Amino acid sequence: MSESVKGVFKATASSNKRIGKRFYRLRIELVADGAKAFADFNPGQFAELDLSHTALPPEESIPEDLLDAAERKILLRRPFSFTNVTAEKNRTIAELLYCVVGPATLRMTTISAGDSLSVIGPLGNGFSVPEGKKTALLVVGGMGVPPLLHLAKHFTANYQTTGLDVIAFAGAKTANQLPFESRLDEISQQLGFSLPEFAKYGVESLIATDDGSAGYHGFVTDCLAEWLSKSGLPAKDIIIYSCGPESMLARMAELAKDKNIDCQLSLERRMACGIGLCQSCAVECRVNGSNETVYKMCCKDGPVFESTEVVF
Ligand SMILES: Cc1cc2nc3c(=O)[nH]c(=O)nc-3n(C[C@H](O)[C@H](O)[C@H](O)COP(=O)(O)OP(=O)(O)OC[C@H]3O[C@@H](n4cnc5c(N)ncnc54)[C@H](O)[C@@H]3O)c2cc1C
Ligand code: FES
Repeated sequence: MSESVKGVFKATASSNKRIGKRFYRLRIELVADGAKAFADFNPGQFAELDLSHTALPPEESIPEDLLDAAERKILLRRPFSFTNVTAEKNRTIAELLYCVVGPATLRMTTISAGDSLSVIGPLGNGFSVPEGKKTALLVVGGMGVPPLLHLAKHFTANYQTTGLDVIAFAGAKTANQLPFESRLDEISQQLGFSLPEFAKYGVESLIATDDGSAGYHGFVTDCLAEWLSKSGLPAKDIIIYSCGPESMLARMAELAKDKNIDCQLSLERRMACGIGLCQSCAVECRVNGSNETVYKMCCKDGPVFESTEVVF
């Protein structure tokens, strides 16, 4: 995938739609140098948004559990991946999927079409495709979906080059914590096209919920393990890409090791500077599979790491 030059750019919001209790989809547009810089944004890279001047929603629409946190000042930019990036002639359109979890994401809900935003990016490394793979498995936990949806689009758009078959596995604690707009009808689900967001790229998807309220009853990694056992695909032909809570990524790394499958994990560490200076996002990594470890910066050396290198 290609390299782009990072910088600080002005973006303009074109829509900000609520798609679930706490889930929103924000669309931003970049022009001029920003459009050029983000045109080659790789799936798995991220951007840092300045939300310090964004207004709070009215008190009555603030969820009760966030009332105290809502008043906190937003000193640091916040990192976000994109679900989709489309480069047109003079502009680049980027789509974000976000979950309201604290003061910054709460403020994001008040962004309206026409509002200006300062964006730093593209940041981080993004996913890569090793030679010789035939099947890509995208394994999502909760809000880990944005970079993997972007990757699904990338694989579909570049099928001629990669030739990869792609299947997505999406898990959450319960059905309403799956950050998707809706599920498809029963027939589509029987065919495996459960989630419209993946189906639009021709990618089959399997759902797993911890409480069994949708799809497989159990962890998404267990759903994947069962699928792998039944598939009979040779491990060397498979590459797994995963993003989600760290406990899930740790299980993912274990499973990939047991099955001898290559696996790339996108880690969502808390970040401050976003460019490798403050060391707040340090990740302990093994050196060439040995017991020796070094600290790498999630924002600069990641957020995508080989599953074999991360010490959980
Ligand atoms: C590379 C990267 C890409 C991301 N992409 C997305 C995305 O596409 N959509 C999205 O909704 N969120 C994404 N996030 C997470 C997002 O940055 C945080 O949710 C956001 O910064 C929270 O800001 P806040 O002020 O609303 O809440 P805060 O008060 O900062 O946090 C609220 C709660 O969320 C937890 N939290 C905050 N940030 C993280 C994190 N990085 N990892 C784990 N827990 C965290 C905190 O511990 C706290 O409990 C991404 C994070 C990273 C590092
Ligand atoms: S966020 Fe500052 S070093 Fe990563």
